[in-house]
Amino acid sequence: MEYPQCPEAVFRSPVIISGSLFLMIYMSPGLTLVIFVLMIFSGVIIGGISSRLRRQSGELQDILGVLVSTVEETLGGLRVIKAFRAERFQQGLFRKVNESYRDTQTRIIRRRDLSSPLSEFLGIGVIAILLWYGAQRIFAGELGAEAFMAFLLAFYNVIEPMKSLTNAYYNIQKGLAAVDRVDKILDVPGGMPERSDPIPIREIREGLRFEQVSFSYPKAEQAALKGIDFFLPKGKTVALVGLSGAGKSTIADLIPRFYDVTEGKITIDGTDIRDARVEDVRGLLGIVTQEAILFHESVRNNITFGLQATDEAVIEAARLAHAAEFIELLPEGYDFNIGDRGGKLSGGQRQRLTIARALLRNPQLLILDEATSALDSESERLVQEALDVLLADRTALVIAHRLSTIRRADEILVLRDGAIVERGTHDELINKKENTVNWSPSRA
Ligand SMILES: Nc1ncnc2c1ncn2[C@@H]1O[C@H](COP(=O)(O)OP(=O)(O)O)[C@@H](O)[C@H]1O
Ligand SMILES: [Mg+2]
Repeated sequence: MEYPQCPEAVFRSPVIISGSLFLMIYMSPGLTLVIFVLMIFSGVIIGGISSRLRRQSGELQDILGVLVSTVEETLGGLRVIKAFRAERFQQGLFRKVNESYRDTQTRIIRRRDLSSPLSEFLGIGVIAILLWYGAQRIFAGELGAEAFMAFLLAFYNVIEPMKSLTNAYYNIQKGLAAVDRVDKILDVPGGMPERSDPIPIREIREGLRFEQVSFSYPKAEQAALKGIDFFLPKGKTVALVGLSGAGKSTIADLIPRFYDVTEGKITIDGTDIRDARVEDVRGLLGIVTQEAILFHESVRNNITFGLQATDEAVIEAARLAHAAEFIELLPEGYDFNIGDRGGKLSGGQRQRLTIARALLRNPQLLILDEATSALDSESERLVQEALDVLLADRTALVIAHRLSTIRRADEILVLRDGAIVERGTHDELINKKENTVNWSPSRA
């Protein structure tokens, strides 16, 4: 790909163009007019082609985006795809996107290849007509041969910078198509609007409060959350229980502002999180989900996950997460590469790595979304021990299926269909028989 010096062309060209143009008009207004008509005519043709090119460039980037995310999803969901024997389906999907990418690419190349000789041809055409017309004038005695030569020179001065200008323009257009695409990617939930003078939040002093929070997913018919009201004081643990689809994860997703509330507000020490810096709010959080997100990297890098940390801090975090035991048995210890998505580790080991990662960050507010529900009971016991360390004196929102995870919570909220239907401590709730149906301790 060539990178013309856009700014240079943009600033220098207009001066040369207008100067030479002035000279041309001064020497022969008639000839200048003829040239102009011709240039506008060819400009329209070339312009039509390049705007088409821009649109297709945009199309191409879109398709490339789909292609990339198909690859990502395939890699990300490999186990699911295999479990459902959906390889063929996924391959078909991939082939289809690939083919449309190739076709669009071909169309663009064809058109670009066409547009360059076409503009050459039009340019030669303009010069041919100019020479012919000039010769007519000279033979008719209306124009001196020397004057015509000077005129041609001025014309050349107009044409050359004009070419670099259109080239720059075309490249800017191409860039714009790419910018559109990047904007669309950054536009996914997460890129939340921020006030021009956001309030900084460095720590949690009092706690996190949900005030009559209602929320509907975009385009969803039913509200996912209705009138959620609770306070999570600093140093305490609030637990959410309820059947799948009750809205537990939605509550968790509202705190880092993956979405904004539809009604009500979420506050930290009284500050509406929509008035705070998004970065600040997210910086307070440590999130551990059911799905251990790990990378084809060393144990150490999976724990630090971009954070600058000493070896001692990493080991200490691993020790507290009950991960140090198994890490020390690995062939290269902390330098051991855990394979794609941590494939060389067991489920419980993977989860303990993500807990070590959260511990290393020492977050002000810890969110655990069913961190133990994918584990067998032996791994769960180990992870549970790690969690008990993690939760001691920590501000935490814990989402769980199993009772054991939340036995120690200071308050338990029972959710059903997006609303809190029951609340209290573990003992209080266990005494209310009717609730056992809703949040079924039998799952524990
Ligand atoms: N991204 C989404 N778009 C639309 N609806 C969603 C989305 N995520 C969850 N929901 C819906 O919101 C409700 C609550 O989901 P969720 O918070 O994931 O429940 P839980 O975590 O308790 O299983 C469900 O009805 C679910 O279908
Ligand atoms: Mg969930």
